[in-house]
Amino acid sequence: MSVVRLELEGRLAVVTIDNPPVNALSQAVRAGIVRAVDEAEDAGADAIVLCCAGRTFVAGADIREFGKPPKPPWLPEVIARIEACRRPVVAAIHGTTLGGGLELALGCHYRIAVPTARVGFPEVNLGLIPGSGGTQRLPRLVGAERALDMMISGKPVGAVEAARVGVIDRLAESGDLLDEAMGFAREQASGGERPRLIRDLSVDPVDPGFFSDYRKRIARRTRGLMSPERIVRCVEAALQVPIDEALRQEREHFFECMASPQSSALRHLFFAERQAVKPPPGVSPAAGGPEITHIAVIGAGTMGAGIAYSCLGVGFRVTVLDYDEAGLARGRKTIEGLYEGGVARGKVSPAKAEDGLGRLTTSQDYGAVANADLVIEAVFESMAVKEQVFARLDRVCRADTILATNTSTLDVDRIAQATGRPEKVIGTHFFSPAHIMRLVEIVRGDATGDAVIISALALAKRLRKVGVVVGNCFGFVGNRMLYGYGRESQLLLLEGAAPEQIDGALQEWGMAMGPHAVGDLAGLDVGYSVRRERTDLPDDPRFYRMADVLVEAGRLGRKTGKGMYRYESGSRAPIPDPEVESWIAREADALGVERRAIDAQEIVERCIYGLIVEGARILEEGIASRSGDIDVVWVNGYGFPRHRGGPMHYADTIGVDKIYARVCEFRDRFGPMYWEVPNLLEDLGRSGGKFADFKPGA
Ligand code: COA
Repeated sequence: MSVVRLELEGRLAVVTIDNPPVNALSQAVRAGIVRAVDEAEDAGADAIVLCCAGRTFVAGADIREFGKPPKPPWLPEVIARIEACRRPVVAAIHGTTLGGGLELALGCHYRIAVPTARVGFPEVNLGLIPGSGGTQRLPRLVGAERALDMMISGKPVGAVEAARVGVIDRLAESGDLLDEAMGFAREQASGGERPRLIRDLSVDPVDPGFFSDYRKRIARRTRGLMSPERIVRCVEAALQVPIDEALRQEREHFFECMASPQSSALRHLFFAERQAVKPPPGVSPAAGGPEITHIAVIGAGTMGAGIAYSCLGVGFRVTVLDYDEAGLARGRKTIEGLYEGGVARGKVSPAKAEDGLGRLTTSQDYGAVANADLVIEAVFESMAVKEQVFARLDRVCRADTILATNTSTLDVDRIAQATGRPEKVIGTHFFSPAHIMRLVEIVRGDATGDAVIISALALAKRLRKVGVVVGNCFGFVGNRMLYGYGRESQLLLLEGAAPEQIDGALQEWGMAMGPHAVGDLAGLDVGYSVRRERTDLPDDPRFYRMADVLVEAGRLGRKTGKGMYRYESGSRAPIPDPEVESWIAREADALGVERRAIDAQEIVERCIYGLIVEGARILEEGIASRSGDIDVVWVNGYGFPRHRGGPMHYADTIGVDKIYARVCEFRDRFGPMYWEVPNLLEDLGRSGGKFADFKPGA
């Protein structure tokens, strides 16, 4: 069946795009639109309605075609054909009209939308700019500033707001979009005059310093990205040069962005994030668990409260249990505080807050969780404590209740063995703060049943988080790799790099924060107690030496005003501390580590390649089912720069052969204890392969 069809309704032509799932503008759709418009004109139609079947008007260009040689007709040609049409063309909009879809709609003479529709330019999230006239037509409708805000945030706006500012000409309120669009088209046709073109409008002038101020305003949040600056240049051009010249410049910037490693990384993540949340190979999507309506959270600490708040926010009934009365009261206060903050910032309505808190109960009695459909344990990170909690849950909970642990490192199989239902036990590792961070590692134990995995994926989706299924091992994917990264950042201290130098180099490279600032923020005691629980630490006195020294001296990080840095009261800014510097020198001396000048390149390579090496092992062992899953974990849980695509995509971009060669150098220079080359890295490095193409177990 054709993806674009033309029907004549009396003297009106209705062109329908039908390209599931989101009516992306594939080559067939582009060609189909041109053909349909030609035929409608040939048939002497008075006006044309352009609409879409299915769940949405066009949601954008077909991202799968990006990075391949473009096939004609290109979108600008399609839009030019619509603009050249002698009779009015009306876009009838529902769903999410994004990117090329909105450009197509702006190429039409008029736009009518249902009030629930959303429109926007999310190209920036793919490292791109609107490349088919969007940067020129939008400012002509809404002015330079609002157009920039829409394109640089990438956030869609609702149709009611879009109608208010002039992007949409009319709202279709009757519930029958096509009928109203046809009425609108007939009205426009009845005048008989040539239809209006957005390209013929001019952009309202701006103040002289507007663009330099705007650049300053966005500098921080667009750090390291290339497309925001290109968007600003295009809007500048919209005010300065004739539209055809500005369109030519826009196209040039678009292709430059498209060819960049940034865009390739962001497009990789677009698909990796959609792939990661699907059931892993071998798990049937049909395996369904019990319907979840009531969730119990064990432990009312920061993590438990954050998880409970997330669950309340999407409609679950939640019982928080803690053995300690004061702890329980604190947990309730934390949840109430989160609601108050949400209301104050306008993110949550007072009615929603009241409704959410109405679904919360707190208890010290295990009987209160007996009927929960799912229990998420978030108690102290100690195997002995968790085993006790799970044994107790197993005794009191319904036989079909799923028991999940929020452990960030511990062995899920051992926790499962504390119960008589290991097939119902799974890890759901949330990240802190749990109500903000999008990632949940879903840890599959040896015995975890398929239905339980599917339920955990569904839970993550309902919480609007990215749930990635991973295997069971120390630290799973994220924290296990963190050891490679953290270990190097600690060794570099002893070898001569200052904390602020290490953090600066990695932040400059793109990490959201440097590892030492992160350590202070999280609390150095957290990693310290995890290391005390580990039985497989390397026999190396240098391993996390400085972190241990600081904790033992009571410098736990920001919360004590001193950690790897010092903090002034009321400020969160890390300040380098000469005392720490002298302690590092003293420890290096005691351990016989020779100190030297270390440059930013070595810092970045040792930390990031440390990550990649562990990632290669994780992939080889099948702990992650795809290299893209590892990327999704690191980008969403650890501040790895999205525009580098995640550690494994970054390795593929640099070339696995080059990474392999450098890791061999590190092994020869620093010894095999930390730089032993994983087989997969060696195989791919020698054969010129990529992590993206490796399928564990294949
Ligand atoms: N090109 C190709 N495929 C696309 C696509 C596009 N522009 N937009 C979505 N898809 C695919 C997804 O990969 C997914 O495929 P899958 O089912 O094989 O995994 C499917 O369509 C559904 O998308 P999904 O995101 O899971 O559905 P949703 O209902 O949550 O969201 C959208 C729908 C349109 C809001 C969302 O897909 C989106 O934001 N798409 C990108 C829009 C965009 O950036 N457009 C500008 C391109 S220049």
